[in-house]
Amino acid sequence: MGRLQQRWALLALTCVASICSGARAEPQLPSRRLGAALSAGGGSGGGGGGGREPQLGSGRATQQAADATAAGAAEGGGGEAARCPELSRELLQQQAKENTAMLAVANTAQWDFALNWMQHVQRAGITYAVVAASDVQTSQRLAALGQACFEWIDEEIPKLGLKWGEEGWRRMTWAKVFVLDAVADWGFNLVISDVDVVWFRDPLPLFAKHAHADLIFSEDGTQSINSPGDDGLETNGDAYHDFNTGVYLLRHNANTTAWAHAWRAHFDACRMHDQHCAYELMRTQAGPAHPQDPRVKAGWRNRVYVGILPPSISMNAHTFFLQKLHKVKGVDPYVVHLTWTYNGTPGKRSRMRDMGLWHDPPEYYAQGSFVTVDVTLPEKPPSYNEWNENEDMISFYLETIHSQLQQAYVGMALALAAGRAFVLPKFQCYCEKIWYGVVRCRVVDAQSMPFPVPCPQDYLFDPANYDDAPEAWGPPLAIREASFLENERTPAQVKDSVLIIQPSAALDCSDCVKEGAGQVLLVPPALPDAQLLPLLEKYRSYRVWRLNFAGVGATKRAYGGFGDAAAAAAFDRRVDHMTTEFCCRREEEAPRYHKFDALIVKLNMTTQFRYSGANQA
Ligand SMILES: *[C@@H]1O[C@H](CO)[C@@H](O)[C@H](O)[C@H]1NC(C)=O
Ligand SMILES: *[C@@H]1O[C@H](CO)[C@@H](O)[C@H](O)[C@H]1NC(C)=O
Repeated sequence: MGRLQQRWALLALTCVASICSGARAEPQLPSRRLGAALSAGGGSGGGGGGGREPQLGSGRATQQAADATAAGAAEGGGGEAARCPELSRELLQQQAKENTAMLAVANTAQWDFALNWMQHVQRAGITYAVVAASDVQTSQRLAALGQACFEWIDEEIPKLGLKWGEEGWRRMTWAKVFVLDAVADWGFNLVISDVDVVWFRDPLPLFAKHAHADLIFSEDGTQSINSPGDDGLETNGDAYHDFNTGVYLLRHNANTTAWAHAWRAHFDACRMHDQHCAYELMRTQAGPAHPQDPRVKAGWRNRVYVGILPPSISMNAHTFFLQKLHKVKGVDPYVVHLTWTYNGTPGKRSRMRDMGLWHDPPEYYAQGSFVTVDVTLPEKPPSYNEWNENEDMISFYLETIHSQLQQAYVGMALALAAGRAFVLPKFQCYCEKIWYGVVRCRVVDAQSMPFPVPCPQDYLFDPANYDDAPEAWGPPLAIREASFLENERTPAQVKDSVLIIQPSAALDCSDCVKEGAGQVLLVPPALPDAQLLPLLEKYRSYRVWRLNFAGVGATKRAYGGFGDAAAAAAFDRRVDHMTTEFCCRREEEAPRYHKFDALIVKLNMTTQFRYSGANQA
């Protein structure tokens, strides 16, 4: 258990005790008004996803622990809750290692990301991280955790509007630039990091390894031209590369200091997202390579030298999860930034879970029981990875993903009826989802990526819709990621307690079961909930029920679903609501294939049958 987790547990206990003992303390009004002090500056919020998406609420499970922490912080010590100090050179000095500080900005909306970020930073042995709190609650939470932190509260932001594209939102995405501007003169090398990021190892050696680079950026792309085994900077990296300001290193010197101030000063004139404005500046008089390092190129009036970390080393959700580009290139990555995900913050959170990089509280892994399915996977056409016809590939993908989703549908229905969480099977995807038309089912840069790839949850579902508004969408579903049963945090009592439920016509009864070898239980096919669940009562202690389709010819005959028509209708509303869209066919190809109406395709869990309505088995 890390120091952070210990404190966490301790604070949760304090909280329970103090809730018993009386009323909640009034939150403190902000006394340090950075926003007011900075005429046009100051900032709040984080740049999750490079700040491209508005930040929504936090995940439920993690939120409980976070609330407990905050309550503990607010009530512990009988009154005034500790908060982060003001930003000062001394603070950075105390925390710095080899004159380097790592900086991140955290806020309440992204608190669970900040917690996850801190746990990984700690695990990677990075001791020089300092977090800017952009609201009072975050300040109290960070202080309670003993995290090195300072307050950076911009009171202008809420007044300017927080929705995507509004001025308050834009200002929020710039918070880390304002912080950079404030510390630039103090002489530290800096590692700047968003909190929708996981650090695998300490980036400090990169400063020495790339000694001629003033700035070392991650990038937004999905491919590297470097040869396998080459763990250097991107060969063709330069100021025109689409670098990402969510993860970068800045070496202190007079030119980088001037650059930081110039970037900050560009806020008013540029009117856009911080990253775009950095591009504008960096690309004025740019180009020549450094005389001693051809991979480092000049930018910004030829005053700074820029290096680009390949996305095999400073990764994103595409290169890490789909391509495993670090393995393809045989390099040891430093970090992954959750760009290339869909469906906003909930999609990012689910992708973190898919990748096994999200720290849910212990009960998420240890409590409750589960249902999953042994999904029958499509057979890969032998030459699929050489196919060139986009439409052939998209059609194959849609057909095969729909057949997998239909199997998951049956398992989800059983999970709901049995009051268990559903563990997603390892769906295989034969196409990507991107924001525009795919080329050979891939993003243009990743043409050599082999299929199938594991499907991220956010390709198939909108995870915010698993359990929202039951009155509108039917009973909530508890969903676990496909990597759940392999996660090191899932205890053996769960992993090793598996019953394989195999509906089989070989049983010529409708009220009997038969135990087979290897934890297999044969049950009659097509039984609805009211008949199947009593037969399974005796096997309740198995933590994982794995529904297996080998004994039935068609998925629909595995389980009969809901005896109650209203329950079936509610379940079908839920699954329709939570499936997301495939994107996209290419407009220029649509005429050839008569697919004008299907550039974007809403995925469907019930292409073969559904439990409600006319199609019922
Ligand atoms: C800053 O850039 C100028 C070129 O514009 C160069 O002559 C100078 O050496 C640079 N200073 C540092 C500290 O790198
Ligand atoms: C799913 O597909 C079936 C069969 O084509 C269709 O009847 C149903 O309306 C579709 N559902 C959704 C939500 O698109």
